[in-house]
Amino acid sequence: MHKNLWHPFTIIKDAPTPLKVQSGKGVWLTLEDGKEVIDSISSWWVNLHGHAHSHISDAIYEQSQKLEHVIFSGFTHDPAEQLAEKLVEKLPGRLNRVFYSDNGSTAVEVGMKMAYQYWRNNGEERKTFICFEGAYHGDTFGAMSAGERSVFTDVFKDLLFDVEVLPYPETWEGDTEVAEKEDAVIEQLEMLLDEHPDKYAGILMEPLVQGAGGMRMCSENFLQKLHWVNRQFGVLLILDEVMTGFGRTGDYFACRRAQVEPDIICLSKGITGGFMPLAATVCSDQIFESFNSSDPMKTFWHGHSYTGNPIGCAAGLASMDLLEEEEFKKMEALHIKEMEGLKSHPQLEKFRIKGTIAAMDIKNEEETGYLNSVAGHIKKRCVNYDVLLRPLGNVLYLMPPYCITEEELSTVYKTIPKLLEEGASD
Ligand SMILES: Cc1ncc(COP(=O)(O)O)c(C=O)c1O
Repeated sequence: MHKNLWHPFTIIKDAPTPLKVQSGKGVWLTLEDGKEVIDSISSWWVNLHGHAHSHISDAIYEQSQKLEHVIFSGFTHDPAEQLAEKLVEKLPGRLNRVFYSDNGSTAVEVGMKMAYQYWRNNGEERKTFICFEGAYHGDTFGAMSAGERSVFTDVFKDLLFDVEVLPYPETWEGDTEVAEKEDAVIEQLEMLLDEHPDKYAGILMEPLVQGAGGMRMCSENFLQKLHWVNRQFGVLLILDEVMTGFGRTGDYFACRRAQVEPDIICLSKGITGGFMPLAATVCSDQIFESFNSSDPMKTFWHGHSYTGNPIGCAAGLASMDLLEEEEFKKMEALHIKEMEGLKSHPQLEKFRIKGTIAAMDIKNEEETGYLNSVAGHIKKRCVNYDVLLRPLGNVLYLMPPYCITEEELSTVYKTIPKLLEEGASD
């Protein structure tokens, strides 16, 4: 590790030397020694159209020549307005107001703060959020409070606020108990809301796929049932689509795939195609109207220096130009085809696919979860096969940029048995 750097999510002592990346083009990353590897995880799930796509880099260059940044309180600009219009066009009908920030965690913080204050502005005290086991919403305090308590958050547990936690009815191919699991969660939700109808500010969830929690997938049907219950009790639905947004689940947004309309949606990662840090929290008119007042106590006192950064918005617009339905829709069929070849592997189970995301669990003697050592072995060895993989503990997943070819995807899949055959020996 460089003497002046501190890398995220890295156990410092004994950390392997980070790989130095020189450049990227399409799905390929070129390392310092000239070796090329396929980025099958889209660089932490941000890259949509491949690295160094000229349409986005040109837009960034042009915008930076015109206006690199301006304060967004009391000022506005074309890229922010145009991107807001584009986002709203693709989002479910009620979501009309875009609030910009810089990253996924802040997109979620903003969503939670909006929901909380919405009730206050309407004269109600609703202090509790309903969240899900296995959730990950980011590393700021609100986002940590709403996420699974784990090794990530343990040190800070005294500083986190309480939330109500529901099980996440994760499912996979061949799961025969999915309906039972879903019904049990819905029943539990109904009981909570029945008992204390005025207690809950909102339900916060990662729709269809929980990312960092292990690419755990739930059904569209579950989301619809949840939405229905939610509506009956008038609780806000906040969807964290930081990872699932912009085509990842095979539709523009997971809420579109599941045909549900949240009150608030949190977006980041793919919003700029992976080029610039940007986030957006988009809410319904109903939420916005509760803040539409001259009373300072009803004002949303939140913002960041780089809110609505014009270069970020220009990158977002250019990425939206490239976001073609056929491109992200076709990948599900490719995953299905390629995954077939792994189904009989004795070390793999719980195969699951949602749009461009494919995942499976690796069986070994250790406890499942983020600290399972198989992740380290795969991360270290995959580069020898010209592939970049980064399992989440014992969960192996693929989430490539949309421009990956059938052949390149096949190369990644063919690498998996080879890596497993090598076992955990050093
Ligand atoms: C669903 C979800 N929400 C929020 C976040 C936090 O985003 P960021 O790392 O940009 O703060 C992530 C990051 O992985 C995520 O997957």
